[in-house]
Amino acid sequence: MSLAPDAARLAIIVVAAGSGTRLGEDVPKAFVELGGRTILEHALHGVFGATHPAQVIVVAPASLVSRARTLGERVAGAASGYLTVVAGGDSRQASVAAGLAALQPSVGAVLVHDAARALAPSALIDRVATAVLAGGARGVVPALPVVDTVKRVEGERVLETVDRSDLVHVQTPQGFPRAELVAAYAAAHDEHTDDAALYAGAGHEVVTVPGEPRAFKITTPWDLRRAELLLSAGTRIRTGVGIDVHGYDENQPMWLGGVYFPDEPGLAGHSDGDAVIHAMCDALLSAAGLGDIGSRFGTSAEEYAGAASEVFLRETLALVRGAGYRVGNVAVQVIAQRPRIAARRMELERHLGELVDAPVSVAATTSDGLGFTGRGDGLMAVATALVTR
Ligand code: CTP
Ligand code: MG
Repeated sequence: MSLAPDAARLAIIVVAAGSGTRLGEDVPKAFVELGGRTILEHALHGVFGATHPAQVIVVAPASLVSRARTLGERVAGAASGYLTVVAGGDSRQASVAAGLAALQPSVGAVLVHDAARALAPSALIDRVATAVLAGGARGVVPALPVVDTVKRVEGERVLETVDRSDLVHVQTPQGFPRAELVAAYAAAHDEHTDDAALYAGAGHEVVTVPGEPRAFKITTPWDLRRAELLLSAGTRIRTGVGIDVHGYDENQPMWLGGVYFPDEPGLAGHSDGDAVIHAMCDALLSAAGLGDIGSRFGTSAEEYAGAASEVFLRETLALVRGAGYRVGNVAVQVIAQRPRIAARRMELERHLGELVDAPVSVAATTSDGLGFTGRGDGLMAVATALVTR
């Protein structure tokens, strides 16, 4: 999007104000999680990936307007200037009308899109946008052929087989010239099932462009599952491992897993010696194929002398995310005589989970009196991490 936001000729209204009754989750449908992001974020990813500069108007439930803005800005990034968020209405039609009321003056063509079509590809949005920006008063809808045989029934009784050769399924986004769409909405009295029906009801012609199977609407739990499977099909999973060992140092405070253990000998080391965090960093770097903590941060570097190890973890996470990975989970085990982990395990898991923004499990064991951990010379931590791209 290179044009100034207030000069965009196109607007894309993303309706996300429905409650998702048929999906049956405890949050409105657009805010339901799908593969680690909300349905709304997925939909906006497609929208902001389209090539035509466009004002993007998200229509959200009134109570979730600011949440929708946060999610929208997260996806839009540098393009946040193109984003408008407004509250919707009781019906989809009322929500679209609320979106139309927020159009900026430069806009000449409008696409209306369901947030529930979370996986609609940018190419589909471009296809509809190109067709509608080409001019004329025609509405544009993406359509797919009906592949199953279609029957007309009365209760359970089949009346006839309907000729499906001239039937299509239609999707969103649906595109229209602004003035005609606004006028059609102003004149509409009945509820229509889609914008094209309302538009045709005002006497305008509507044409189809090829639709996309991935633009299916998430309506039921089954649809959500299908979307999850489609997303995971492209996911690459990697695991990594990390081990760290430090000897005890009576003169140091004990920081382990970013948590302070009073009345315990600390760990010797160039930084704070937090073996749990160091093992986690190595596991994360290993999973992402980014080397290890020593090669990345030069643990002998002056700037890290006495450093709280959370710094390493933050920088590690930035590297891992920068390489396109998401953290699935991290598991860490401490092998040591002291400190006793059990009583503080939940606290450690919560603290580390917040730092990593993914589940972290913490376990501990002694080594049955054997080796350096058994003798009480030092402590070892072993971590594994799972990342996805
Ligand atoms: N929509 C909306 N405002 C409404 C109703 C629906 O913005 N009052 C939006 C939905 O958020 C969705 C799209 O219109 O993105 C398609 O509607 P639908 O799939 O029916 O979603 P819901 O109405 O949320 O679901 P349900 O009908 O199962 O309650
Ligand atoms: Mg609905």
